[in-house]
Amino acid sequence: MARMENAHKVRKAVIPAAGLGTRFLPATKAIPKEMLPIVDVPTLQLVVDEAVRAGITDVVVINGRNKVAIEDHFDHAYELEHTLRERGNTDLLAQVVKVSTMVRMLSVRQKQPLGLGHAVLCAREAVGDESFAVLLGDDLIDNDRDPGIAQLIRVHEELGAGAIAIMEVPAGKEHLYGIVTGDLDPQGRMRIRDMIEKPKPGTAPSRWAVVGRYVLPPSTWRHLENTKPGAGGEIQLTDALRELVKSPEGLYGVVLQGTRHDAGDKLGYLRANLAYAMKRPELRDAVVELCREMVAGAGAGKA
Ligand code: G1P
Repeated sequence: MARMENAHKVRKAVIPAAGLGTRFLPATKAIPKEMLPIVDVPTLQLVVDEAVRAGITDVVVINGRNKVAIEDHFDHAYELEHTLRERGNTDLLAQVVKVSTMVRMLSVRQKQPLGLGHAVLCAREAVGDESFAVLLGDDLIDNDRDPGIAQLIRVHEELGAGAIAIMEVPAGKEHLYGIVTGDLDPQGRMRIRDMIEKPKPGTAPSRWAVVGRYVLPPSTWRHLENTKPGAGGEIQLTDALRELVKSPEGLYGVVLQGTRHDAGDKLGYLRANLAYAMKRPELRDAVVELCREMVAGAGAGKA
């Protein structure tokens, strides 16, 4: 029994950050989109924080170009720390030091942009033969008490199967996601019957979409290796996961508790900034007031 529990223990997380970030150019010309801030914290730091709060000890970041900004952010910044110390700015100093010690981080380069499945496969050697988490920086799952990825880890430890986050998306948006089918049980879990990456508009078999959190067994590596290019000509994680669906253990979709923000979309990114700002006591009232002013201004502009 102890051996079984250990086999499903999740210590490592893969965070793909090799995309071109075209939707956020020119901001992403010299920095990865994962470094764009939500208020004053890079998206990637929020995602790493979620993983750490779930007990993850090692993060493998898949980098493309511009990896230096990410590595520097999670490393010591001696000059900055020295200056903050000299100025007696202890709060900021503590925050800066915390980021450099929050997790063991390893970077792996994805040399060609061959798709999300290929990006994850780049972490194979670093992760090895154990279950692992995947967190996509575009999706923020806001839950201070119970991190989204921790919810999936629990399902994985209980069932010994892969567990991925799902949510119901509005009709007409299905083509932007991996879509799953299956019956949802009262606990918000679904044994997935089938899945398809980015179905053509009007052809989606359901509105249950995969959102960027996954906890996967080591057999995923073999499936990823055998996955041929799919939607958009890319090697898709969803296509590899279809093989897990067919395995005896199966694959489970889990509706996560928490607020999901799509930080990979301009409006979603702005919304995430407002939502996270409003969680900060020192900003909350001012942000509400600002929103009121802006709405009133927009109304006046239209008249
Ligand atoms: C990726 C996955 C897709 C998933 C989505 C969630 O797509 O390929 O299955 O539904 O993330 O955000 P992307 O948004 O990178 O195109």
